[in-house]
Amino acid sequence: MNKILTELEARRNIARMGGGQNRIDAQHAKGKLTARERIDLLLDDDSFEEFDMFKAHRCVDFGMDEQQFPGDGVVTGWGTINGRMVYVYSQDFTVFGGSLSETHAEKICKIMDMAMQNGAPVIGLNDSGGARIQEGVASLAGYAEVFQRNVMASGVVPQISVIMGPCAGGAVYSPAMTDFIFMVKDSSYMFVTGPDVVKTVTNEIVTAEELGGASTHTKKSSVADGAFENDVIALTEVRRLVDFLPLNNRQKPPVRPFFDDPSRVESSLDTLIPENPNQPYDMKELILKIADESDFYEIQEDFAKNILTGFIRMEGSTVGVVANQPTVLAGCLDIDASRKAARFVRFCDAFEIPILTLVDVPGFLPGTSQEFGGVIKHGAKLLFAYGEATVPKVTVITRKAYGGAYDVMSSKHLRGDFNYAWPTAEIAVMGAKGATEIIHRADLNNPEKISQHTADYEKRFANPFIAAEKGFIDEVIMPGSTRRRVCRAFASLRGKSLKNPWKKHDNIPL
Ligand code: HXC
Repeated sequence: MNKILTELEARRNIARMGGGQNRIDAQHAKGKLTARERIDLLLDDDSFEEFDMFKAHRCVDFGMDEQQFPGDGVVTGWGTINGRMVYVYSQDFTVFGGSLSETHAEKICKIMDMAMQNGAPVIGLNDSGGARIQEGVASLAGYAEVFQRNVMASGVVPQISVIMGPCAGGAVYSPAMTDFIFMVKDSSYMFVTGPDVVKTVTNEIVTAEELGGASTHTKKSSVADGAFENDVIALTEVRRLVDFLPLNNRQKPPVRPFFDDPSRVESSLDTLIPENPNQPYDMKELILKIADESDFYEIQEDFAKNILTGFIRMEGSTVGVVANQPTVLAGCLDIDASRKAARFVRFCDAFEIPILTLVDVPGFLPGTSQEFGGVIKHGAKLLFAYGEATVPKVTVITRKAYGGAYDVMSSKHLRGDFNYAWPTAEIAVMGAKGATEIIHRADLNNPEKISQHTADYEKRFANPFIAAEKGFIDEVIMPGSTRRRVCRAFASLRGKSLKNPWKKHDNIPL
């Protein structure tokens, strides 16, 4: 008996060594942790239960039968994050460069299937040279099996990808179909075709970092939702994000203990809006001042900064926040902002996370680049996302809410549950100057008359009361009381039940 136990331990030790000490040292020398070290950091202490530690590839071509590493380049299993269950796979770059073989894919598929059945998130730690070249089409088939599961799991359990090394070729499409992608700065990259192919086909000379590093994907392409300095910070931040999320689409988001008075009055908000309506202010200040303990988990912080998206808690419950940011492009909606916010709203709705919308929007950004880029279709994504969302929706208009953007930003007409406005709100079809120049065109050559008309228009529309008279604004609230009002609003909506008509699926303007 003792001998069998010793043999088991010996086999386990071999599997735990992955591709061997030299390759582990090489991994460390690149500033990267090993697959197992990453899992240890991601999960609660001693909570990891591994599957398929001894699973081996079946390839015999190119001398592969002589090269066996138990586990075949990916560590899979489940564990807990702050006591809540998650499934995880972590690719082991020390074994065939973390490349995906048929059996490597089977291991990932197994935990994805279990995650779906048991209703828990899937977290993928990606560090792979892509398809296992020696296995050919069997490897491509393995990828497709994973892709299909990504699609089926979408909207059922949260899926999070962390890119911690190479992720190239078709391999990028699994992370691309998950809910969130995070990258590690300077050690991870994602691209469909690498720098060499790019050079051959387009003559462009570009480094891997420029083509698909963390900076590119968080600032330019918006493929990634966040980038972190190193493996340790990335994994710590994923733990923080998981705390905000429900485990599946049948559960409500978690309620955490909170130590912040829901009725807390923030008098400083009464002076947040500058006297000059064209002067910007930082909308993040409002978010931080109304969130429990000022804790804001921002998503896509470095992309489309004219809109803010992220998670806060109110009375311990997760709330998704979408907010125009007046400090960037005056808070205008544009293509990038619409896409960013639409995807976020859809995530929240899929996982029953209530949405708080903070509005200060002068309209859609004008210009040929926006029109040629299809702002009509992209803006419609956000409109569509808000319109189809059935989760509790609370909206606060702090200042401008002009034109179509007023409608889009979770207005009453898109089934907003609570639509509040600050006394500083201006709700109208368009700004006073533009409106006057159209409806008083005959007076265009008379500056005195124009300025009088403009002042009249401002007096009539640069306030929240016309909308309030029509019931489009439920209440005009004191800025300092926003946290109390919004907490009470969400508390009153905990039993909300709203269903859209049956359909196979909608046809959002992709
Ligand atoms: C098998 C691979 C491999 C792969 C790396 N290795 N990629 N083995 N299949 N795809 C092995 C190497 O042979 C090496 O083995 C070890 O992993 C580490 O690789 P290095 O090259 O030494 O590491 P590094 O210098 O850090 O370079 C990493 C790399 C490079 C940039 C990822 O290895 C590389 O370019 N690999 C090939 C990438 C690729 O073309 N993949 C296929 C993409 S197409 P030893 O034994 O020396 O340690 C694809 C299609 C998917 O993925 C389609 C899905 C639909």
